[in-house]
Amino acid sequence: MHKIKTYLTEELNFSKQTIKKMKFNSNKFYNFIKKRRSVRDFDKKNFDIKIIKNAILAAGTAPSGANLQPWHFVVIKDSKIKRKIKLAAEKEEYNFYNYKAPKEWLDALKPLGTDSKKDFLEKAPYLIAIFEKKYSLSGKNKVKNYYVRESVGIATGILISCLHFSGLAMLTHTPSPMTFLNKILKRPINEKPFLLLVVGYPNKKAKIPIFARQKKILEEISTII
Ligand SMILES: Cc1cc2nc3c(=O)[nH]c(=O)nc-3n(C[C@H](O)[C@H](O)[C@H](O)COP(=O)(O)O)c2cc1C
Repeated sequence: MHKIKTYLTEELNFSKQTIKKMKFNSNKFYNFIKKRRSVRDFDKKNFDIKIIKNAILAAGTAPSGANLQPWHFVVIKDSKIKRKIKLAAEKEEYNFYNYKAPKEWLDALKPLGTDSKKDFLEKAPYLIAIFEKKYSLSGKNKVKNYYVRESVGIATGILISCLHFSGLAMLTHTPSPMTFLNKILKRPINEKPFLLLVVGYPNKKAKIPIFARQKKILEEISTII
């Protein structure tokens, strides 16, 4: 016999806005979010970790497959651990840039001017290693998660938006492969590194590639039918 699932509901607390306010707010958000830029040159200046904690709480509100919340965020402030990560990432990136990356990929990266040196991994006050959990562990039992990548991607988007809203700069960094993060950060085998977010104030002399500021226009990225 099938078990009948019972579920409880509650009133939705939804605050309705006028169309005028909605247009104003959506435009305001667009004008705010378009100022986010990937930064690769950070200041050493520290800030209250509470800002990072709030951003993780915001990320944790993301929708997720069956509400299973298949993510874990490791905040790294310890300089010795940051150094370990920098050395491991640079090793992988050296192999990537010199041996592994296909020419096509290297050509696509050229306008960004990136290379295997990753000084920002030591200089920025915080790194956030984001892990995706293909399954969760309940004691020795594996509990399968659903739509893991989609869910973690949405949570990461909220994390980035909150940090930008808080006045911080970031880099979404993906040294390839990132498995060294499990070892250095002592994370279990059900967690797979998703992204390494570098967070801090930009160095006063930080430069950004003009190429990266060029975004596709509405007609290129959307269809309205
Ligand atoms: C999933 C993902 C991985 C990325 N990995 C790297 C990386 O390893 N190194 C890097 O310098 N930038 C990385 N970037 C940043 C992109 O180069 C950057 O987002 C793009 O050039 C657009 O620039 P913008 O972020 O300033 O809009 C990554 C971005 C994403 C979304």
